[in-house]
Amino acid sequence: MRRKMLLFLIMGVFGTWYQYTPIPENTEQPWALMCMEESLKALTNLLLLIELLGISHFMTSINFLMRFLDIPPTSDENVTVVDTTFHNISVRVYLPKQKTKTLRRGVFFIHGGGFSLGNSAYYGYDLLSRRTAHRLDAVVISTNYRLAPKHHFPAHVEDVYKTLRWFLRQAVLQKYAVDPKRIGVSGDSAGGNLAAAVVQQLQHDQDVKIKVKVQALIYPGLQALDFDSPSYRENANCPILSRWLLLRFCSEYFTTDRSLEKAMLTNKHIPVHAAHLLQFVNWSSLLPERFRKGHIYKKPTFGSSALANKYPGFLDVRASPLLANDTQLRGLPKTYVLTCEHDVLRDDGLMYITRLRNVGVLVTHDHIEDGFHGLISIGLKVGARMQDHYIKWLSENL
Ligand SMILES: *[C@@H]1O[C@H](CO)[C@@H](O)[C@H](O)[C@H]1NC(C)=O
Ligand SMILES: *[C@@H]1O[C@H](CO)[C@@H](O)[C@H](O)[C@H]1NC(C)=O
Ligand SMILES: *[C@@H]1O[C@H](CO)[C@@H](O)[C@H](O)[C@H]1NC(C)=O
Ligand SMILES: *[C@@H]1O[C@H](CO)[C@@H](O)[C@H](O)[C@H]1NC(C)=O
Repeated sequence: MRRKMLLFLIMGVFGTWYQYTPIPENTEQPWALMCMEESLKALTNLLLLIELLGISHFMTSINFLMRFLDIPPTSDENVTVVDTTFHNISVRVYLPKQKTKTLRRGVFFIHGGGFSLGNSAYYGYDLLSRRTAHRLDAVVISTNYRLAPKHHFPAHVEDVYKTLRWFLRQAVLQKYAVDPKRIGVSGDSAGGNLAAAVVQQLQHDQDVKIKVKVQALIYPGLQALDFDSPSYRENANCPILSRWLLLRFCSEYFTTDRSLEKAMLTNKHIPVHAAHLLQFVNWSSLLPERFRKGHIYKKPTFGSSALANKYPGFLDVRASPLLANDTQLRGLPKTYVLTCEHDVLRDDGLMYITRLRNVGVLVTHDHIEDGFHGLISIGLKVGARMQDHYIKWLSENL
């Protein structure tokens, strides 16, 4: 708590010289959200200045500050918490203390942070995993993975797949007394992207006999082709995650070369040879009517193929799980998707729901009308509500 206060205080000091972002009317705790937003914006601008001066990369600076919000593995009266490694990659394990004779459910959690930030020790994720373990009486594995700007795609998804495969082995499940028939994969934001990607990969992996029962995707980003859907248009300057910041994170997943980000900002990064992929992210046919809200569909303008040749990652299904065709999506496990109204990534989640339902996958959708991106691990009452929705769904379906 003190660490959190300290960070917000430092951010608040710089918080005064900024233009103010309008907060939507239906927001609960508007003042708290506004303070958070103004502080984050001030901090962002300061760190951009530091980057401009050539002192430190933007993401490296944020990560440095965020490390103050990490907590060591700390057991409490209900849950034993330990850090260990799976396949040489660090993971944090949460084991309920309550005695039981039967095997427990297992949740494999992947944190968010725009592929550049975060880790399992970050207090918001630690709290979420701790709660999940306690309330579900489940073993929770919270995995880490390599981050940008030091590492780019596919390092992240490869690391997560390695730790997931390590976990899904008979010997490891036995060690933690996990029921192989009741395992779920979940993640938020970039972690939701990685969760969708590894669950798709797992489904077709002949070498892994133990599959997962459910996947839970919390405001996931699921494609890097079209940044001009209604949710991008409506929330371009939304608190917590603006379109600009999202594109900085997204492009950083593939490269530190800013020319990709520049092309993404104008939605001109797709080469003409990828035109056939647009059908999979065509919001004009995939969004329910109430989310199209009179927006007119505009096909992305094709750009040079040089970018895509240099950084083919953004056209890869492991980075954009929405690019999987119907045959690949068929047979995916029961799915939970949480979307927020005030979120540039809202339409990614909505399109995935349509695509999954079209091929017969069972999907539960929770839409948070007054929700903002990122809050499940940051706080506010609406963040706690998201946690409750997510944990309740797991308790009923896993
Ligand atoms: C442990 O569980 C009990 C019962 O659910 C709860 O009242 C208590 O607050 C929990 N302790 C911690 C540290 O979360
Ligand atoms: C982990 O790292 C050690 C030391 O570098 C190496 O010997 C071992 O083979 C690695 N294990 C796996 C599963 O990669
Ligand atoms: C997108 O869908 C609309 C309506 O279903 C269709 O008219 C349009 O041709 C599609 N565009 C692309 C690029 O797939
Ligand atoms: C779907 O994608 C897979 C893998 O890329 C490919 O083998 C298959 O032919 C595709 N199916 C259809 C119907 O396009």
